[in-house]
Amino acid sequence: MTNKILFIANWKMFGDLNSVKSIESVINLTKKKNYKNAKIIYCPPYTLLNSFVIKTRKTNLDVGAQNCHYEINTGPYTGSISSNMIKKLGVKYIIIGHSENRSDGETNDQINKKIHSAISNNLNVIFCIGENLFEKKNKKTNNVLKKQIDLGLRKIKKIDKIILAYEPVWSIGTGKVLTNKELTKQVVIIKKIIKKKFKNQEAKIIYGGSVNNQNINNLKQIKEINGFLIGGASQNSKKFIDIIRKTIN
Ligand code: PGA
Repeated sequence: MTNKILFIANWKMFGDLNSVKSIESVINLTKKKNYKNAKIIYCPPYTLLNSFVIKTRKTNLDVGAQNCHYEINTGPYTGSISSNMIKKLGVKYIIIGHSENRSDGETNDQINKKIHSAISNNLNVIFCIGENLFEKKNKKTNNVLKKQIDLGLRKIKKIDKIILAYEPVWSIGTGKVLTNKELTKQVVIIKKIIKKKFKNQEAKIIYGGSVNNQNINNLKQIKEINGFLIGGASQNSKKFIDIIRKTIN
């Protein structure tokens, strides 16, 4: 997997065929020499995966899905899409365990099965973890993160295809972000949990939750993180480019 700074655009339930053209300016940016160190991964809704794969062919950009069913190939699951179907489109990444799906009833066990299915299809996984406000207020953050990692990554042996996305639930879409000091502390704790569980293997860790073109100047100072998972601000190419520019320059 790449050692570049990751900018993962999570478009959630936004975008239609007209939005495909809007990423051209981002593609053009990455052609410039000083952006060689940036890895941009677009995660549009399922309906746009194919168009995004075609649009980003022969570029440095990659495409990711936002979820999958835990069944590896095919099955009687109306409305669902498997990691194998996603892989066959030419998609390389997949977000699993996003809090918006966890709060919809997705369990740690299902997340674990989805991660196994994605890896067996040779996809890179963006595995989301994070505490909610109640857990934070009750000082349960570290326990929650450890449990999510232990159960989500159960029976996973190698983590070279897994990117951990630390996204405090209370930070998503709210404009609230931890201070750099608090965030660094949390990321170091996650790294320790991973190192212990995976016998010194190191995982890439990205941060997500209200990343925008204002707070990026601050967030980019944190050396312990390998990039960002960006929701709202990634749907607007101007704002997204601003975030990438400010991080790289
Ligand atoms: P946000 O979303 O940047 O809009 O807070 C991030 C995410 O949910 O991945």
